[in-house]
Amino acid sequence: MIAPTVGHYVFTRADGQPLDFIPGQFIQVHFSYADGTATRRSYSLANLHDHALGPGESVEIAVSYVPGGSATALFEGLDIGGEVQASGPFGRFCLQPGDHNGRYLLIATGTGVTPYRAMLPALATLIRERGIEVILLQGARNLGELLYHDEFRAFADAHPEFRYLPCLSRGLPDAAHPEMRHGYVQQFLAEIGPDPARDIAYLCGNPDMVDATFEALKETELPVPQIRREKYVSSK
Ligand SMILES: Cc1cc2nc3c(=O)[nH]c(=O)nc-3n(C[C@H](O)[C@H](O)[C@H](O)COP(=O)(O)OP(=O)(O)OC[C@H]3O[C@@H](n4cnc5c(N)ncnc54)[C@H](O)[C@@H]3O)c2cc1C
Ligand SMILES: NC(=O)c1ccc[n+]([C@@H]2O[C@H](COP(=O)([O-])OP(=O)(O)OC[C@H]3O[C@@H](n4cnc5c(N)ncnc54)[C@H](OP(=O)(O)O)[C@@H]3O)[C@@H](O)[C@H]2O)c1
Repeated sequence: MIAPTVGHYVFTRADGQPLDFIPGQFIQVHFSYADGTATRRSYSLANLHDHALGPGESVEIAVSYVPGGSATALFEGLDIGGEVQASGPFGRFCLQPGDHNGRYLLIATGTGVTPYRAMLPALATLIRERGIEVILLQGARNLGELLYHDEFRAFADAHPEFRYLPCLSRGLPDAAHPEMRHGYVQQFLAEIGPDPARDIAYLCGNPDMVDATFEALKETELPVPQIRREKYVSSK
């Protein structure tokens, strides 16, 4: 468990084939309801992607337990060594090789931050080679639910071009880091000043957050093609 209701799962392909991916992509887990109807759920790949994943290498996902959820029951009941059926990778919520922006605004709530964890090695390369800046606005209820917080903090400390703003919706802990904010991620857009001339924004996680932040960014005149979205809606 990496938070009270979030499990970090590590899987290796049973058929021995490679499963490489582009950071930001997801896999789909296939299972059946009690009545036998087939269904599937999507999970973003969370690996720190610093090399192509070959045969036998593991993929990682972070699963948020939704009360009463069907896939939640599947994952909660999975023992170490257990198997799931899955397909992928899928998706286009990725850094694009053709981007010439000066800054990425990465915005997430809950497990929506995992694509950005996967992107960290690529972002380090872009910082070094293209001189980009990055701001990560990460929303969670409290410090205990702030996924991969220590890793993002350490990355920001090592890369001055990467600013890390955790946004806690239910209040700040004692002795909070000066970059920690109290509220929803979209409340701090004005502070970072979205800039149509140089920003590309990524929004991932809670669908209500994605919609609210999308509208707020449009009001700052950020062109829609410069706003990329992944909503964690249930696919049932
Ligand atoms: C592209 C994509 C990537 C995703 N990546 C991840 C990921 O990396 N990690 C992750 O945990 N999830 C991710 N999701 C969401 C995930 O696919 C499931 O929808 C989620 O885990 C709930 O599945 P479930 O079967 O347990 O709940 P369901 O049986 O589908 O839902 C049970 C009830 O809870 C509601 N519900 C579903 N999800 C939520 C929620 N997040 N908050 C509040 N209520 C909810 C449903 O509307 C329903 O009423 C992603 C979704 C998409 C589309
Ligand atoms: N303590 C709890 O109540 C608790 C803890 C863990 C999980 N859960 C349940 O588990 C499921 C998934 O939880 P999750 O933590 O993975 O994801 P989540 O419910 O999307 O919450 C993640 C963060 O997003 C915030 N948020 C909610 N609506 C928002 C909006 N419109 N704009 C911006 N931010 C918004 C939440 O704040 P607020 O919640 O403060 O509004 C929280 O800080 C949900 O069903 C949730 O209710 C509940």
